[in-house]
Amino acid sequence: MDNLKPPEFLMIPGPTPVPKDILEIIARPPIGHRSAEFSNILTSVSKNLQALGQTESDVFILTGSGTLAMEAAIANTVSPGTKVLSLVTGVFGERWVSIAKAYGAEVERLDYTAGTAVDVSQLANKLKEDKSIKIVTITHNETSTGVINDLRQIGHLVRQHGALSLVDAVTSFGAINIPIDEWHIDVLVTGSQKALMLPPGLSMIFFGNRAWTAQATCKSPRFYLDLTRCKKSLAANSTPFTPNVSFICALQKSLELIQSEGIEKVQARHLKLRTMLRAGLRSMGLKLFVDDDSASPTITAILPPEKLNVSDIRQALKQDYSIVVADGQDSLKGKIFRIGHMGYVFERDILMTLASLQAVLKKLGRDTTAQPAIKAAVQAAGKAK
Ligand SMILES: Cc1ncc(COP(=O)(O)O)c(C=O)c1O
Repeated sequence: MDNLKPPEFLMIPGPTPVPKDILEIIARPPIGHRSAEFSNILTSVSKNLQALGQTESDVFILTGSGTLAMEAAIANTVSPGTKVLSLVTGVFGERWVSIAKAYGAEVERLDYTAGTAVDVSQLANKLKEDKSIKIVTITHNETSTGVINDLRQIGHLVRQHGALSLVDAVTSFGAINIPIDEWHIDVLVTGSQKALMLPPGLSMIFFGNRAWTAQATCKSPRFYLDLTRCKKSLAANSTPFTPNVSFICALQKSLELIQSEGIEKVQARHLKLRTMLRAGLRSMGLKLFVDDDSASPTITAILPPEKLNVSDIRQALKQDYSIVVADGQDSLKGKIFRIGHMGYVFERDILMTLASLQAVLKKLGRDTTAQPAIKAAVQAAGKAK
């Protein structure tokens, strides 16, 4: 028999912890997707998603992970030869490039050093220089490095230029307030397993009027991802294919939870968690991968102390304290580790992670236990509004 252990706690950037109320809904027997009961739930979930995004855009729920919604965004707006500008701050900016190329786009890119954000004035110049850019892809929160981009300014510039903005808000929507219309965002995608506090399996795509205009002449082949089908079905309070009914019922609960806390307070909680974690890590002498100015409110990347390696730190955290943190991705694998703090995450979880990390580093030969990491985090919580 296995020894009794504490439950595994996910401090990774998705999947994230799921509230018990949501798990209970998922465990219920599924209801029919053509039933009046489900139609009512779908209508209410769609309205609540629009309310959370403060938008008049249509919103569709797709059964598949965030990348599916990214592909839907491209398949409905990009024709072979369309000029796309991709703002690449890491792995997920690169994903837009790969999908757009798969659909035959002519992709130009602005690349940024890992750990830095999009340079908005460089973007402004690029857009001024090149009037042929029709679409700009943006990663709001670059999960691979822990960088948040200035979506408000970027959305404004892209609209001024007249291009369409396609925004990946997979690890920001639901944690950060994104007023989609006010920020001039044409298409925004997100996923269930991040700040929306559900397991992986659903993605959502907001699709505005200007995107529909582009869609009408878009020549890319599509069937399952043809949003015209979704729009027609949604007008009849339904979906074109069998959706993940259990998760959509659970999403109703998740949106209620966010609504009852209020998105401003949800955002303030995430900002506070970021501040606490960064203060605690710094007080332990650890180096953070991203400067304060562009540090993500939902994910923090950390350099391992000299002579220690990331896999040992991760393994010891999991083995000794059942806390799971993430490695770096691609070229950053083994160079940084990442702590996710999005969705169903609270101050207690930050303090627990900091204390466990200190214990693990001590075990691995780097004693920081004399450093007041918890005190620094608690003080930062008091200061952070
Ligand atoms: C910023 C960002 N975009 C896109 C994705 C892709 O989402 P999925 O793995 O759900 O397809 C992720 C996943 O972590 C992400 O963090």
